[in-house]
Amino acid sequence: MKLFRKKKNNFETGKIVVNEENNLLSTGGHGRLKDNILYLNADGKNKVIQVESSVQSEGKTTAICNLAVSLGLTSKKVVLVDLDFHRPRVHRTLEIERENGIAEYMLGSLDKKDIIKKTKYNNVDVITRGAEIYNATLVLMSDKFKDLIKQLREEYDFVLLDCPPVLQVSDYIHICKISDGVLFLVAYASTTKAQVSAAIKELRNNGANILGTAFTLYDKKKDNSHYASGHYGYGYHYGCHAKDDEEDSIEKA
Ligand SMILES: Nc1ncnc2c1ncn2[C@@H]1O[C@H](COP(=O)(O)OP(=O)(O)O)[C@@H](O)[C@H]1O
Ligand SMILES: [Mg+2]
Repeated sequence: MKLFRKKKNNFETGKIVVNEENNLLSTGGHGRLKDNILYLNADGKNKVIQVESSVQSEGKTTAICNLAVSLGLTSKKVVLVDLDFHRPRVHRTLEIERENGIAEYMLGSLDKKDIIKKTKYNNVDVITRGAEIYNATLVLMSDKFKDLIKQLREEYDFVLLDCPPVLQVSDYIHICKISDGVLFLVAYASTTKAQVSAAIKELRNNGANILGTAFTLYDKKKDNSHYASGHYGYGYHYGCHAKDDEEDSIEKA
């Protein structure tokens, strides 16, 4: 009988690894990702960013939470909205309560000001899911929800949306309509070429503006790159990507 279950990683829920020091490093994955996102929103046109990947457990929540902290450290005002109604995890990574969020706001029992939670990280606020949401489509398509995002857009420098995976949940169809662009994540040496192609196709068919792609779950042992930034890194590929770019990236993995 096994006494201990072997952990897949060093930790079970994503951790915040960004701090004042490593946030400044232009060679570090987090620093580079943050710099690219700052550049992409230099004119304020890519403020509402949807973080997507093909399937679950590709590091979306961990990446978006670290991105929020990283942007917060550069004095940008950030609100992170947990739109993964099926597996909400932002509250765990940022160590806040899940209760009192979008569900309660939609029901009318709480106002916007009551669902915006402060975190221990500078300039980073969060809106959690709250109670269970059974019909995501109704919420995401409602004028009340769209109005919430509109107001957040006016009050913050960045509105980051943590989302469920494209190939497993169709909520991205509605989220694409309210976001300015998509940051697409690919799990290093794990996501297949077919998965990336299918997910990107789905996003494009629904009018998504794909801002860039980044690797997550980076494994130093499998990389010869000089830019390797430790176990916990992101390789960021900036720009508007032709389909072939993503396929090349996967082949390397
Ligand atoms: N960069 C990373 N390096 C190592 N483990 C990671 C990294 N990012 C996420 N993880 C781990 O991978 C698992 C899935 O991460 P999560 O962010 O919840 O993925 P998703 O939101 O895509 O489902 C968690 O156990 C998390 O701790
Ligand atoms: Mg997640």
